[in-house]
Amino acid sequence: MNKPEKPFSEACERNQEPIREVLGAVLTEPAQVLELGSGTGQHAVYFARHLPNLTWQPSDVVDALPGIELWCREANLDNLPDPIVLDVTQGAEGLDAVYDAVFTANTVHFVSWDVVRALFELSAEKLKKGGDLLIYGPFNEAGLYTSEGNRRLDAWLQARDPESGIKERGQVNALAAEYGFEAVSCFEMPANNQLLQFRLSAD
Ligand SMILES: C[S@@+](CC[C@H](N)C(=O)[O-])C[C@H]1O[C@@H](n2cnc3c(N)ncnc32)[C@H](O)[C@@H]1O
Repeated sequence: MNKPEKPFSEACERNQEPIREVLGAVLTEPAQVLELGSGTGQHAVYFARHLPNLTWQPSDVVDALPGIELWCREANLDNLPDPIVLDVTQGAEGLDAVYDAVFTANTVHFVSWDVVRALFELSAEKLKKGGDLLIYGPFNEAGLYTSEGNRRLDAWLQARDPESGIKERGQVNALAAEYGFEAVSCFEMPANNQLLQFRLSAD
């Protein structure tokens, strides 16, 4: 029988090193990290391999798990446990662990505001007080696309699912505040993306 092929994303190949640089600067201590919406699993392997101070827990909806498992098992890294099923809209019942940081890439534009709300709610529940939520992706600024490429991406997203699409960064910050997150930094990333760093209030 043929070996199943690992899913592959060109975008992950391009963005993983710039993201690793920011994660390496922000998460300098040993830390347990939960990734939401791991996708192919490429990011999980890359960050676990190149940031050995982190224990990286990949997760995604059930359909994505087999692909992520292929990447993780092949990599066979001590700091990369098998992925877990986690649909942010279903809450985190049964997930006992709490994490020092939560990371997610290219999910916020891919889903509706309701799912983004669920993502913040779950992150607030699963993060230690003072922990960081790191969100990578494209955002709009002052009601405007930051590039023609992002305008085209948004049209494609909304044709696929009218409730999805690129979100306004200010509105993301406002939603984050509702769940007790302070906006700490906004890192400018290649190809008109940003990496938003939020910190869960310590009270
Ligand atoms: C555009 S992909 C990004 C994947 C990967 N993080 C990357 O950067 O390539 C969006 C991801 O969000 C995940 N996703 C969508 N709805 C979700 C939900 N309700 N809970 C958790 N993950 C979800 C999808 O399964 C998919 O892996």
